[in-house]
Amino acid sequence: MKRREFIIKAALTGAFIAVPKIYSSNKNNKNIKVGNSLRFPPELQAGESLIYKTVNMEVWPGTTTQVLALNNSYPGPTIRVKRGDNFSVLFENQHIIESTVHWHGLLVPELMDGQPKDAVLPGTSYTYSFPVTQRAGTYFYHSHAHHYTAEQVYKGHAGFFIIEDENESQLGLPSGEFDIPLLIQDRHSVYKPQFTYSPGNMDIMQGYLGDLPLINGTPEAYFEVQKTLYRFRILNGSNARVYKLALSDNSSFWVIGTDGGLKDEAVEVNNLFLSPGERVEILYDFSPFNLGESINLVSQSFSGPGSQGDQMNLLRFDVVGSGVSGGNIPQSLPAINYYDINSSKRIRTFTLTHTMTSGDGMHRINGLTYDLGRIDETIPFNELEEWKFVNDTSNLHPMHVHGVMFQVYARNGNTHLSPNDKGWKDTVLVNPNETVQVLVKFTDYSGIYLLHCHNLEHEDDGMMLNIKINQPTSVKEDNILPEKFELHQNYPNPFNPSTTIRYSIPVVEAKFESTTNVTLKVYDELGKEVSILVNEVKQPGNYEVIFNAFNLPSGVYYYKLKVGSFTKTRKMLLLK
Ligand code: C2O
Ligand code: CU
Ligand code: CU
Repeated sequence: MKRREFIIKAALTGAFIAVPKIYSSNKNNKNIKVGNSLRFPPELQAGESLIYKTVNMEVWPGTTTQVLALNNSYPGPTIRVKRGDNFSVLFENQHIIESTVHWHGLLVPELMDGQPKDAVLPGTSYTYSFPVTQRAGTYFYHSHAHHYTAEQVYKGHAGFFIIEDENESQLGLPSGEFDIPLLIQDRHSVYKPQFTYSPGNMDIMQGYLGDLPLINGTPEAYFEVQKTLYRFRILNGSNARVYKLALSDNSSFWVIGTDGGLKDEAVEVNNLFLSPGERVEILYDFSPFNLGESINLVSQSFSGPGSQGDQMNLLRFDVVGSGVSGGNIPQSLPAINYYDINSSKRIRTFTLTHTMTSGDGMHRINGLTYDLGRIDETIPFNELEEWKFVNDTSNLHPMHVHGVMFQVYARNGNTHLSPNDKGWKDTVLVNPNETVQVLVKFTDYSGIYLLHCHNLEHEDDGMMLNIKINQPTSVKEDNILPEKFELHQNYPNPFNPSTTIRYSIPVVEAKFESTTNVTLKVYDELGKEVSILVNEVKQPGNYEVIFNAFNLPSGVYYYKLKVGSFTKTRKMLLLK
């Protein structure tokens, strides 16, 4: 990972040592400005850990704010990787409460997903490591601690995870100092300069809506631009606030990317909605402006509950230079294969409600509040499904799914989608009394993942379900039916905490009829059964299953495959 020059420059000159600026009406005087120069977090270097703890930082000039920082930075360091890399980082929790790092939008194995059940306890650490296999794009990492997600994100646990690839870099899009990540979060002026998190009942209902926008942790932010085209990667990292993004003169901009990377075309718009957890990539051209002019990125007002929908100034652009070229608006972008709703195997409906009873949470999905130990939906691997999010409330619910990128199909039956709905998504805003249909297919990992509202107050209040993706029914690339009964050595071995076991059920032996029951069980050294991995009727074929031993101690284990009256056993070693 190579730190970009402009980041170094920004870190040395701008970030966190901002000096109070006095307002001047003379637009051309570059030395006297109101506000604070937009900050950029440092980039995480290969081999560096993520150390999570409380630190005092200068968010507002001349005062200090207690933040939950990663590597002494808020926002957390920007992680920039190439598609195909193996990403690995040691997360050290030096905070007094459990935490996790969830890689929002990234397709990673269950135990790398940073779910509430896989908490990293105070004073302990955990290595997250996974191959980066998905599309280039703008992703997000943040805490997903059980009941503490909202507070920890609010206090600082959030950052960018950017994936780049060769194809994207050949498109001539603005890059380097013209490719700018913008994290939007809101804070409460009544508690300034602290990030006090104390939601009341009303805030749990509507979300903890602040009135002070911070951009990359910068209050009253401004950013100096050249008269050229810029790419902005915008991430709504707010707990609950939805923004209606626009420019203050209502000029148009181009939408080029959604949650899961580039769209298949650049689409010109004047505004768009961005809800918590969502990302959008846009191009904006500053060349029509004169030097010395300014323009604001704003959130336009819209009608929403409480202060949701209030007008806000987010970021001021000061046009200060010319004579450089950031890049071009692409004439064409790589195609996206859209799912066909007619190939959907089934419909799943998720009804969103809130009730006024207190105690076990007001927010529910299909009448349920979150239970760490309960599986709410079992979903076959690699089968297209239509999901319906039915919002029976007067609140906005950005619905997010882990472990998959989906496609929006329709809003209230209308399949004519806005450009930021169309493309690869992991979070979709479901407006009051709206039904949103999405098409979902889990193609990457099996295991337990989450479906929840990304209004973090709603999430912590239990608006979340466990979904279990069934294991692949056969090894993908292997269409040839096996000739012999086989139980392979697990890999990796030794392992911690999960390993893959492959086995084959042959077609030749008459005993292995299609009605044969197959079991695969794990025993400890003393012969005690500790896990049943498979217990079902299976067709001849090659199979694999992942064994998770996160709740078992180190030691020797045996796994035994039984097909009809045939058995085979192998040994494996768990080393923690
Ligand atoms: Cu961004 Cu489950 O979260
Ligand atoms: Cu997520
Ligand atoms: Cu919600």
